[in-house]
Parts: sequence; C-alpha cells; structure tokens
Amino acid sequence: MTILDKPQYRAPRYEKAPLSLPPLPVPYPMTRTDRVPVQRYYDPAFYATECERLWPRVWQMACFLAEIPNPGDYVTYEILGKSVIVVRVDEGTVRAFHNACRHRGVQLVEGRGNVKGSGFICPFHGWCYGLDGANTFLYQPDLFDESNRLPEDLALVPCRVETWGGCAFINFDNDAPSLRESIGPFAQFHDVWKVEGLWPEWWLSCRMPTNWKLAMEAFMEGYHVMQTHPQLVAKGASSKVYRPVGESMSDLEFRTQMTVLGSDAPFDKAAFVQQNLHFMRTLSVGMAGMIHEKDVRVAEGLSNIELPDNLGEAMAAWNRAVNDAIIDWNQRQGIDMPDLNYIEANGMVGGVEFCFPHFFLLPMLSSSSAYRVRPLGPEECLFELWSLTRYPPGQEPPAPPEPTPMAPDDPRWPPIPTQDFSNLPRQQRGLHAEGFEFMRLSGWVEGMIANYQRLIDGYLAGLPYEQLVPAIHQVVGPIDAESRDIGF
Ligand code: FES
Ligand SMILES: [Fe+2]
Repeated sequence: MTILDKPQYRAPRYEKAPLSLPPLPVPYPMTRTDRVPVQRYYDPAFYATECERLWPRVWQMACFLAEIPNPGDYVTYEILGKSVIVVRVDEGTVRAFHNACRHRGVQLVEGRGNVKGSGFICPFHGWCYGLDGANTFLYQPDLFDESNRLPEDLALVPCRVETWGGCAFINFDNDAPSLRESIGPFAQFHDVWKVEGLWPEWWLSCRMPTNWKLAMEAFMEGYHVMQTHPQLVAKGASSKVYRPVGESMSDLEFRTQMTVLGSDAPFDKAAFVQQNLHFMRTLSVGMAGMIHEKDVRVAEGLSNIELPDNLGEAMAAWNRAVNDAIIDWNQRQGIDMPDLNYIEANGMVGGVEFCFPHFFLLPMLSSSSAYRVRPLGPEECLFELWSLTRYPPGQEPPAPPEPTPMAPDDPRWPPIPTQDFSNLPRQQRGLHAEGFEFMRLSGWVEGMIANYQRLIDGYLAGLPYEQLVPAIHQVVGPIDAESRDIGF
C-alpha cells in the first residue's frame, strides 16, 4: 500500500455552544471545528479581549539562551506594550524582571546588552539594581520618606521565567502551571531532537499587515504547498494526489511524497538520488535551517550510492545513509547530534511543529528553522524567522543582532517565505469583503487552525488551567493535524 491508497479520513466535526462562562462571554466564538468567524481577525473588541485574557496567561518564548550566554547578558522581550528584561545571572540561572525603575518608571534597558559589574543603572536619576533585581544604589536616600525606600519595595518586580530547549519563556501569570507542564508533548518531542543544542545563525523579521493569527495559520497546514510553493512538489504531481502530511506519516513517506509522487516513469535509481538532492537544495535555498547547506553538501557526497532496486527500500536506504553521514560529519567535530534514524523510525519528522501560542520549531536533519509571531495591533503583527544550527562546543558565534523589521515584499526574503508572505496581506484585505463571514476549513489538514482557535476561546472565557493545559497538549505538535475535541 502506498500513501496514495491511504483511505480517506473523515475528520471529526463537532458543534458546540459558544463558550461563555459568566461573566466572561467570548466575542465571535468558535462554534464549529470547520469555520472561523472572520471578525476574529480584525475586530478591535476581539483583539482587546485577547490582550486582556490570553496573552497575560500564556508561556511566551522570550529569547534564545544563545542571546544571553554570559552573566550580565540581558535582552528585552516586548509584547503588547509590556517590556520584560530577561537576564543571565550565572551559568545555571536566568531571571526576568518587568522593565521599569522603581523610582519613576523609566525603562532600565532597551534591546540587548551586558550589565555585568554595574548592574542595571537607571538613566534618569541613577538608581541601580543587581542581577537579582535588588536595589543597590539610591542617590540621596534621605530625600525620600522612609516608607518609600523599603528595600523589598525597591527591588525590580520579577516576572516568571523558565527555560527549555535553548529558550527562555516568560509568563505574566504567577498561577500558571510550569512551562514544562504546559507545553508537555512539544517539549518531549523536541528533547529527542536535542533542540537545546541548536544555536541561532541568522534572524530576520517582518512587519506584516495582518492579524497575528493569520500569519501563524499560514504555517499550520501543508495544503497550500501545491499552489504557493510549486517548487517543493515533484513534477507531474497534481492536486489530485495531494495527501496530508499527517501525524502518522513517516519521514520516508514525506520525502517519497515530495520527490517521487506523480511520476509514472519506471524507477530510475540515479534520477531518484538526483531528485532527492534537488529537493534538499530547494528547501535549503535561502532558508538555511530548513535544510542546512552543510547537510546538502554531506548528502551530495552520497551521489554514487548503491541502492536497492525497489523504490521503498531505496528510499529507506537513502534516508539512512543521509542520516548516518550527517551524524558522522557532525560528531567528528564534537557536536552532540540527535539520533536521526531513531527519530525517523518513530515518525518524528513532522516538518513544522507548533508551540501555543506563537512559536514554531522546524527541526530537519542537523538544523532547524524557528518562527515567532507577535501582535502589534488588530491587523498588524511582527513575524520573526530564525535559522538555527549546531556548532562545535566553544565555537558558537555571537547570536545575531535583533533585526530591523522588513516589509513582506522585501527582496531580501528567501524564496519560501516570499511565497508565503505574498498571500498574507491580500488575505487580510480579503477578509473584509462583503459577504465573507467565516473561513471554511478542511477538518483534516486544516484542523490545527480550529483547534488552537478554540483553545484561544478557552482563555477568553477564563477557563481554569485544569481545562486549558490538557487542551494545549491537544494543540501543540505537528501541523496538518485533524480537528479535535479539545475538551471544551
Ligand atoms: S526613574 Fe529611575 S532613577 Fe528616577
Ligand atoms: Fe508555506
């Protein structure tokens, strides 16, 4: 049986009453798993409800730890007008503080830097703070009433921060369950990938004239690949032969689909190898971590490999050879690599993996891409794209500087994001069309969109974490998921 014979799967579709636990009614709620009310993408009241009830309660990827490798290194993470300082205290300790001087509120730092030795010095009147947040200097304290200079009252206000996977995550809610508990399966999956060893190689950002959810949804399904990224589809494939890259699809099937689907010609081993290399190069062009050019070069060294005559066996042999060669190439430089063959055998090559609410990891072979989306307004967001790779210990380059946001049509964007970004602004405009009331979703390949939208409703309705956390576990993970009953 090939993937073409896969039986048609009927995704479950349920209809539910709008979530409205008094006193928190949800505007424009998700009531079907295959329809998204269009106002969720531009209505100011809906956006305001998200700002009030969603963002203050979620774990947010605030920075890569590679940005703060040394004691005193800090970054600021900005979200919806709030600024949080994430600072490295020592090798094992990262802390976060709300970015406001306890005197008259000036933001202590901007961007990224190092305050080792001096600590944080307020630029207004010179009050100082240590890496632990304690106030260490107050200019002429006797000018202040004693009640205004109690030490515990002068320390920077801490913000929750936890680290996982080479990243620091913050949460504004002191009552939220731990990061690990919250993102559960996403962390377990990527622990096998050893994502903590991935290091940012470059970083780009885009100011996108779309709602933040619209930008994310462009990466939640592979259904658009056929039309938007035709270079990723084998010649001869047509929309008739598209099958979702579902959870159960192995890397073998995934690469088979991308490289040989639609070809009626008899199996030609040399052409097969060239087609695989071509696919790797196409994914690699300008995207680095998507498939790193280091990996392409290693695979190119296998051009003359002996393969079995049978297509399925040849694919398995080719993948194993590529995995082995890449592991070997990296290990010879002292790089700790994940077991790519184990990952493949266990169907853990998902392509794009979503971490609620706004982060994606796309590990592939030695490297990875990452995306993050932050709202800037009801119809504007900041989209960030990283290429991550592995370096020999001690030879990691400095983390790339925070980029100046580019326009979505900037010619410097690599080909694949250029194609995605070409749709997004016009989609946002299309949502305002007369008579367009809801997006209609495939309950199979576009189910993730419904699942996370319903999860957002859970937050907007003020549901307790006992209900939200199991739902997050249903939502995080590989894209192209089917629509699910997430428990509410
Ligand atoms: S506002 Fe910071 S020292 Fe005055
Ligand atoms: Fe895309």
